[in-house]
Formats: sequence, C-alpha cells, structure tokens
Amino acid sequence: MNDVRRRTVLAAAGGTAVAGKAATARAQSPAASDAARRAGTEPGPHEAEVRALLGRMTIDEKLGQLQQLAWTGATGPGGGQTAAAEKAARRGRLGSVLNVYGARTTNALQRMAVRESRLGIPLIFGLDVIHGMWTTFPIPLGQAAAFDPAVAERDAEVSAREARSNGVHWAFSPMMDVTHEPRWGRIAEGGGEDPYLTAALAAAKTRGYQGEDLRSRDRLAACAKHLVAYGGVEGGRDYNTVDVSEARLRNLYLPPFRAALDAGVATVMASFNTVSGVPAHGYRHALTEILKEEWAFGGFVVSDYNGVQEMTVHGYAADRSDAARLAFDAGIDMEMASTTLNEYGKRLLRSGRITTDRLDDAVARILRLKFRLGLFDHPYADEDTVIAGPTKASRAAAREAAGRTMVLLKNEKSTLPLGRSGSIAVVGPFADSTDLRGSWAGTWADAFRPVTVLEAVKDAAPKARISHVRGVDASGRNTRGIARAASAARATDVTVVVAGEAATLSGEASVRGDITLPGEQERLITAIADTGAPFVVVLLSGRPLTMEGWLDRTPAVLQAWHPGLEGGNAIADVLFGAVNPGGKLPVTFPRAVGQIPVYYNHENTGRPYDPHNHYTSGYLDLADGPQFPFGHGLSYTTFDIGEPRLGVSRVRAEALCKGDTVEVAVPVRNTGRRKGDEVVQLYIRDPVASIVQPVRRLSGFRRVTLRAGEATTVRFRLGAEELGFWTQDRQGRFLLEKGEIQVFAGNSSLAKRERVLTIT
Ligand code: NOJ
Repeated sequence: MNDVRRRTVLAAAGGTAVAGKAATARAQSPAASDAARRAGTEPGPHEAEVRALLGRMTIDEKLGQLQQLAWTGATGPGGGQTAAAEKAARRGRLGSVLNVYGARTTNALQRMAVRESRLGIPLIFGLDVIHGMWTTFPIPLGQAAAFDPAVAERDAEVSAREARSNGVHWAFSPMMDVTHEPRWGRIAEGGGEDPYLTAALAAAKTRGYQGEDLRSRDRLAACAKHLVAYGGVEGGRDYNTVDVSEARLRNLYLPPFRAALDAGVATVMASFNTVSGVPAHGYRHALTEILKEEWAFGGFVVSDYNGVQEMTVHGYAADRSDAARLAFDAGIDMEMASTTLNEYGKRLLRSGRITTDRLDDAVARILRLKFRLGLFDHPYADEDTVIAGPTKASRAAAREAAGRTMVLLKNEKSTLPLGRSGSIAVVGPFADSTDLRGSWAGTWADAFRPVTVLEAVKDAAPKARISHVRGVDASGRNTRGIARAASAARATDVTVVVAGEAATLSGEASVRGDITLPGEQERLITAIADTGAPFVVVLLSGRPLTMEGWLDRTPAVLQAWHPGLEGGNAIADVLFGAVNPGGKLPVTFPRAVGQIPVYYNHENTGRPYDPHNHYTSGYLDLADGPQFPFGHGLSYTTFDIGEPRLGVSRVRAEALCKGDTVEVAVPVRNTGRRKGDEVVQLYIRDPVASIVQPVRRLSGFRRVTLRAGEATTVRFRLGAEELGFWTQDRQGRFLLEKGEIQVFAGNSSLAKRERVLTIT
C-alpha cells in the first residue's frame, strides 16, 4: 500500500489550489505512464509484435479476438458453446474461452487455434478461480477477516500454481465490490464494507496471482471485478439498480480498483448492475474516462457473462447491434458469452458507428496480454507436470489461512478454548458436513473432500469421549432430532454446535431476505441453551447472520465463515487453542434485517441517535447500533491498545500534498496469559468538510503477534491519501482540506483513544 499512497500523493501535489474552503490538492491523472507500464501498454516490450500482427489481421480476425465463449466440455459448467468455440478457434475467430481447464483439454483446444487458424494466435483460458483451484481456501470475506493481506496473497499464489499447471491463464478474481448489503449473496466473494481494507486485499491478491512475470508457469493474469458499484445493488437483490453519487463512487467503490491497478492487474470485468441509470457495461465514465484515461489502464476490459447483450433487457440498448456499439464505445474490449460484437461489428464499422481505431485499440490490449503471458512462445500446458490435486504444502497453507480468518465473536467465562479430555458433544447440521468450501469452490474441486469438524475434533482430542447428533437439517422444518441433541448436551462436559448456512445460500444470485439461521437451527441452539450445560456455537456462513434469537443465551460464538478444504481442521485448531483466534469482522453484523444498511463508516446525520430525544435517527422497534461492529473480534488473551501518538500535531497541507506523511505510533500490549494476535486499527474522522465525511474511516491496520506480557509499538503513516477525499466532480477532484482531523486507535471501529491532527 505504501507505494500506492506515495503515487497518489505525488499526483495530488501537481494539482491546483481551490479557493474557498482552503482546499489544496487536486489529483487528476496519477502517474499515468507508470500505470501504463505496469499494465503492459506502450511502449511495452511487445509493441512491435502487436503492431505487426495487427497489420496482418482481417477485420473478422480482429473481431474474433474480442470474443470469449464458454466451454462446457465433459466436466465444465456453462452455457453450451463448446462446438461454437472449437469452430471459431479453428477459423481464428476467437480470443478466449472460459470455464475450461485441464492440460489435455486446454491443449487440444489451443492446438485448434495455434495450428489450424490462419495466424495461429493462441487462446487465453479463463476460469473463476476465486479462492482456490484444487486447494480451496476460505471464502474471500473470511480472508478479509484475517486483516492480513498475506493470507489473500498466499491463496492467490497457490491458486495460480494449481490453475496454470492445468492450462488456465486467467483468474476472474479478485472480486472487490465493497458492499453494505449482507443480504446480497456476493458479499461472500469480496472484502466486506470497507474500501481501505478491500483495497489492500485487492492489491495482495493481484500480486499473488500475477507475481513478477506472467510468463512463469505458476502465475495467472488477474481480473479486477466488477466495475462498478455492484455492491450497491438495491435491497441486496443481485443484478439490481445502483444510483450513486460521484463522491461515493470514488471514495467507496473505486479505491480497490485503483489499488489493483497499481499492483499491475492485467484485466478488469464490468458489472451487471446499472450505475445511475446506465448499465455498467455501457458506463463509459467508469470503463473509459476513469479507468483507461484518468488511470491510464492499459489492460483490457472483459464483459460479464452476457452482460453486453443484457443491455437490451435493461432498457438501454435498442437491440443487440446497439448493445454491441454501446458496450464497445463505453470501453468493453472482450465480450463474454454473448456474441454481439462478432455478429454486428462489421456492419457497425461500415456505417461508422464504431471506428477501426477503437477496434485496433481493443485487439491490441488483448494481444498484449497474450504476449505478456508468453502464449506465443509457450501456448500449451505441460502435460507431464500437471498438479492434479492439493499437496501437503497447499493443505497446510489453507489450514493456516483458515485459522487466521476465524473471528471469536463472544466468549463468556472463557468457555473457549476447550480441553482435550472429558466428553464433548458435536452437534448441528454442519457438525459432520463436508459443506465447508463455500461459494465458487468450483465443481472441479469436488473430488477433494474436506475433513469435517467432527472428524477434526476426534483427531485433535483422541482421549476425549466424543458424541455426535445432527439435531436438525441445515434447512427444513423437521425438529425431531432436537431432543436427542439436548440429551447429548446434558450428558457431556461441553457441546459444540456447528450451525450456519449451506454454501449455496451465498454467492452469485443467492440472495436472502432473511439472514437468520436457516431452518430450525435456532431452535436447536435454544434447546441446548435450555439444558444449562456449557456450549459453543461455530457459525459457518458466507455473510453476516442475525442472531438476536439465540445470542444472549449462548456463551461463546466462533465465526468461521466458509473456511475451505482444511476448514474442519482449522476450526478444531481454534476450538482447542492450538490457534488463538485473531480475526476481526470486515463487515458490520446487524441485529436485524430491518436495520440494513448498517455500516460503520456512515455519515453522522443532523440528528444522530439519542435515546433521550425522539427526533433523532433510529428505529422505534430496534436497539441502536449493530450486533457486532466492524473490526470486532476477541482473543483467548487480552490486549491493551494505548493512545495514538502523533509525530507532529500540526502539518501543512502543502507538505502533505508533496508527499509528506505524519507518523502515528500506537502502543499495544498483550495483557493476558497466552500468546495471541491483535489487529491494531487506526481510524480517522474529518469532522468538518465540504462534503460530509464518515464518522470513522479505517486508515491503517496491522495484525501483530505478541507473547504474554509482550508489548510493541505499531507505526502508521497518514498522508494526503488517507486524510483527503474525492469530491462530486466528474473530472476527479481530490481535496485535502485544512482543519482538524480526529485520529483514533483501537481494536474495532468503536476505537476510543483519540488525538487531533491539525492540517494548516
Ligand atoms: C458471472 C459473474 O458475475 C462473474 O463474476 C464471473 O466471473 C462470470 N460469471 C464468469 O463465470
């Protein structure tokens, strides 16, 4: 992140002072040439080859490069374009295929393009490798909870190695849609509600996939998705409407994309929603004005599946030809699944409704990536060195990652960690379930069965007497097993209830209107509570769940997300204290659906909630505030985070614009009796600004491991990027305003320790 910051600050320094409220910085085209170089555009190493190839291509071949079709093959999912893909590959009328993998399958397909087509331009194979190929890591929302970008980076490295060896060149990841909507199933795929955290993860994941050199046989091109504001879908309903101001677009939704770009992301995918009345596939402002012009992105933009054609359904494009023109003009370079550009491209060119320059620009972007990936020299996967499944090392990485994602929400009377002797009942619909991998764990990885929590508990506590009762199903109304589960709880020292949501309840198009525990699981928990015996609840979910019906009666709750292939073992690691949980919530947990959206970085309103004043902003029938705030998470030890100390208490705006930063030092001490992790979190608030600012803004975080009694000081740097904000100006105006900034340090978004920094 440091580099990212520095660049933006430098850009800000080139700006003009704005009169009025002492605004001093303007960022317009941050480090354009830098971004272009990273994205592999001119004057890149392959420019001459790209130009030479372009010169030999017919219009049909050029349009062909813009086309991506879905493979179904024997094993793949998708829309049945296999025959069409093969035919197009042979004729040199295809740029890419999605949903295809396997060295043999991809090589056979690649041979059609390379050996049979006139120019032999290789295909690029893309796949939704979102949190693992064979080795499923925790879902991205869980990875965000680790508050440790190294977790995301490691996932991407392992994924890249496994996928590239199986013929895949391109992952449709990272997903970086900031959202305030726990009902939206795709919350599972991203980094939660905060742009700063999501940006750090987007950059880390991009680095992990791409490494230094895309030609390496263990790297993938990454795809920053979905541009833009997809997380804002109304009501959390997938593919829905988004109406967003320019300031919110730039302050909330765009920072992760900018961070991915700064990390060199090769491609970007458009989103299915509308943005202020325009389908994102036709939203030139984001795809071209901001991405390609202001940020000088030199990679290519791929549509989402049928996203171009669907502009007719949105009520924006008159017909498919119009959709092709609008998408192409807006900045889409490659069309996934629908075929409008290929069908109508020639006619559109002839009538002058799209230009040859734009066509060459799009094709060049795609060819550059093929050169960067080394596909012209090495189009085939090596069939002798295929990684055919998870390895010991990849499993160990997934287990460690999953351990870091766990968030201890509650732990009264130190119910956790459990002892390894005595008797333990493991109950609930997910106790002995292999449904641990979460959304987007592709069918390709189905062959690798996760260890269940029950199996892992038995393994971790061989001397304990362990019983198991399912109690209830994950959904459904049958309650007959509850009594048996309660008797098991009565008969044992402690009960572990493994509850939650099936993987199919989150992810794309998996939206819930009710985010309580499905089926009769709440009744199971309250029946266990009725026994009076100690118990803990382990929650598996792809989103925040509401828990008002049972939380007060539950001594301990561990949020385990969908923890992946090694999730069962990782849960046991935490239950028995081999791993001390240190994750934090990357998203606010609401008390009730009626509160949504509820998020920590909200505006204050003119009448913030006051229990003694009726005319303030709240609900008559809901307590104020969330169930658990953003950044919350406990440990088996305790920490004290001290006052933040500022390097200087006053700083000149001009100095910040030139790249100066202010150090904030935050002391932290492990005050408990065991080693553990704490995430030191830094928040700022700009209390008076020309655009109302959030009551808190995460501006730094660091996960540290401290032995019992150990202390350290975590140092952050605040610069223009953290202290300023984007305005409503469509041209992109970044302001750093003079005045006071409150700086808070702590271990959640409720952080209380405060200092004031004055910008003069
Ligand atoms: C639709 C999803 O929105 C996108 O994220 C995914 O990459 C594509 N389908 C391809 O499967």
